[in-house]
Amino acid sequence: MNERTLVLVKPDGVQRLLVGRILQRYEDRGLKIVGLKLVLINRDLAERHYAIHSERPFFRGLVDFISSAPLVAAVLEGPNAVAVVRAVNGATRPAEAAPGTIRGDFALETAQNLVHASDSIDTAAQELALWFTPAELFDYDRDVDRWVLAPED
Ligand code: CMP
Repeated sequence: MNERTLVLVKPDGVQRLLVGRILQRYEDRGLKIVGLKLVLINRDLAERHYAIHSERPFFRGLVDFISSAPLVAAVLEGPNAVAVVRAVNGATRPAEAAPGTIRGDFALETAQNLVHASDSIDTAAQELALWFTPAELFDYDRDVDRWVLAPED
């Protein structure tokens, strides 16, 4: 099933010059970039994005961090994109992230875990609407898809 999911390369990823290497991993897997932008978000968007964590003790730090410097927001499309992106990212806590994942290769701290990804199809739909307008998302064909994707029935 073709899905779309939101990925954020958080401020630590931008500051550590890892944007290209991180996006490369999703492209290497075959996922299609259908939306992409560099943004410095305000606290309002940060609080809405992380609303589910609003009662957690780390909420304020999370909002401070995500709104402190530019980040890269991307929408990735492909079969099972939500689960595939989470697997590419690795476990939220870098100490538990497998080698070969983004967090398992590049991160040490949960608060500086480089990437965010939608955790379900429903969350992905909400997050896409929060971060991207319809005009910022693109439907287009890639020649390589005949080698990456199974033929449609
Ligand atoms: P993310 O996928 O962006 O979603 C919520 C974020 O909260 C998570 O990645 C971590 O960066 C952060 N987070 C989760 N647990 C903690 C924690 N115990 N302390 C600090 N940050 C946390």
